[in-house]
Amino acid sequence: MSYNLLKGKKGIIFGALDEKSIAWISAIRCFEEGAEIILSNAPVAMRMGEINKLAGQVNAPVIPCDVSSNEDVENLITKAMEHFGGSFDFILHSIGMGVNVRKGKHYTEIDYGFNVKTNDISAVSLHRVLAACMKKDALNEWGSVIALTYIAAQRVFPDYSEMADAKALLESIARSFGYHYGVKKHVRVNTISQSPTRTTAGSGVKGFDGFIHYAEKMSPLGNASAADCANYIVSMFSDLTKMVTMQNLFHDGGFSFTGVTGPVIEQMEK
Ligand SMILES: NC(=O)c1ccc[n+]([C@@H]2O[C@H](COP(=O)([O-])OP(=O)(O)OC[C@H]3O[C@@H](n4cnc5c(N)ncnc54)[C@H](O)[C@@H]3O)[C@@H](O)[C@H]2O)c1
Repeated sequence: MSYNLLKGKKGIIFGALDEKSIAWISAIRCFEEGAEIILSNAPVAMRMGEINKLAGQVNAPVIPCDVSSNEDVENLITKAMEHFGGSFDFILHSIGMGVNVRKGKHYTEIDYGFNVKTNDISAVSLHRVLAACMKKDALNEWGSVIALTYIAAQRVFPDYSEMADAKALLESIARSFGYHYGVKKHVRVNTISQSPTRTTAGSGVKGFDGFIHYAEKMSPLGNASAADCANYIVSMFSDLTKMVTMQNLFHDGGFSFTGVTGPVIEQMEK
């Protein structure tokens, strides 16, 4: 169902790799709600992924951008402004990469070179994108920027490894930049802390199956799906949430504030 919540709004969606990606489903929802979109992903991912299929579906150009490159980010923002004929309204940062996790390195023995890359792609990239937008005055008054995060930024989930630190940094950048962009142009910056979700990035976490079942049992509403997350993102891009900024918003069926549930106790008593 469409409510035209994003009618007249324009924005960039980073991170649609395949049909399971939160960004993919969000792009479709934003389009259904009337938004004009540009899709972006790392050049290497676009060869692997099927982004052109999505581009046809949501009538969006695809502009490659490795978010760890200043040059790529500047180029993307310039091209986006050319395409939209000026400034735009929203950005979805749906990007994560744990290099040590990928290389199978345990948290206690990480390679610091890889770690710099992890933090750069997964967190500092939000700063880079916001800084490029501010420099070029690319975002409209009351624009909205969302980055996706996970509760391992607040509590230990051992196998989430270095990504926990990257997410803590990401959330901090959203707050800090949110302050400056808010004062300067009423642009709001928030993170959404999503339930575990079966995607390429999600399934990269060791023991993901056990993990997603545990979260399901520990959430009064159950795990939030990617489609639920896309709906929440639409609402955060809409004017209905215009006074929300600098927040880490838990979108997890209540997991974050639950100590224990009946089903988990039952399981422990077996
Ligand atoms: N899946 C989960 O369980 C879950 C839970 C909470 C938060 N998140 C977060 O949601 C976001 C989206 O992940 P997803 O689960 O949809 O998985 P996904 O694998 O579909 O998306 C991750 C995206 O990051 C992109 N990316 C990686 N390196 C990049 C680079 N250098 N430049 C540009 N893009 C790059 C990938 O190409 C991919 O499209 C991530 O930030 C992830 O950490 C996921």
